[in-house]
Amino acid sequence: MLFGRHLIEPDNFTLEELETIFTLAEKIEREGDYLRDSCKGKVLGALFFEPSTRTRLSFEAAMLRLGGTCLGFAEPSSSSTAKGESLADTVRTVSCYADVIVMRHPKEGAALLASRYSAAPIINAGDGGHHHPTQTLTDLLTIRQMRGSIDSLTVGFCGDLKFGRTVHSLAKALARYPHITMIFISPPELRIPRYITEGFAGIGVSYEETGDLEKVIGELDVLYMTRVQRERFFNEEDYIRLKDSYILNEEKMTMAKEDMTVLHPLPRVNEIAPEVDADPRAAYFRQAAYGMYVRMALLSSVLGVVC
Ligand code: NCD
Repeated sequence: MLFGRHLIEPDNFTLEELETIFTLAEKIEREGDYLRDSCKGKVLGALFFEPSTRTRLSFEAAMLRLGGTCLGFAEPSSSSTAKGESLADTVRTVSCYADVIVMRHPKEGAALLASRYSAAPIINAGDGGHHHPTQTLTDLLTIRQMRGSIDSLTVGFCGDLKFGRTVHSLAKALARYPHITMIFISPPELRIPRYITEGFAGIGVSYEETGDLEKVIGELDVLYMTRVQRERFFNEEDYIRLKDSYILNEEKMTMAKEDMTVLHPLPRVNEIAPEVDADPRAAYFRQAAYGMYVRMALLSSVLGVVC
């Protein structure tokens, strides 16, 4: 039962609850009209303190398709944050106007803090370099669709694993599924944080770290590429030095399995050459499309229009 629940980190939902969301999202995708207008009269508050294209618009599209309405802001300069209002006060206020709040903020822990002051459920759409659980719903649904199940897979994460919140959330979520091996591919400066992997050994999840994409690409069932997160760097020189550490192109794709799935949360900068887009293994735009269906399933569950 997800009615009224916050979603701050992927572990907030059990595997059974995730399964319910995926089944619902698949039904919504299959039957175009399913749940249409089920959220009539409900309001989504979208508070985006950081830029977004897919996450914000897919949430808004999801709510509109469910028959509800949306309010909020796409940048904090148009809200009272610019006058110095605290996040707690903003959230307390907006939760009087909205039935559910989706929020993106540059500070780690902001969504958790908001959940302590909000009268409405808070959905974390990214808190700094920490977590992004609804991208994980999208990623898991795409893996399920492309691979048939989330089981017995070798998943490679490549790029900025230090600041990439989508990587943190997906790695933590995948660790709960059976027989998953993770390979973390990054420059030493952008390694996956210990707080993500520290529990892995205790629950029998095997993983390795490397800097060499070409060495491991042939072992992967899923390759999750990521952008180097420029906005989280302390200086521009480091960003410039690291930004093109990995570029997936046709030549590297020839070293991969014939059925490897390429994912990317988007936006991409240089890390996937456009020539890869036409490769049937490239699933990142399909992934973006699933984002709306999975958010329709999430909103209708949190708002209690389905059980
Ligand atoms: C990601 C994010 O905001 O963390 N984008 C998204 O929501 N799909 C990835 C990124 O910005 O690199």
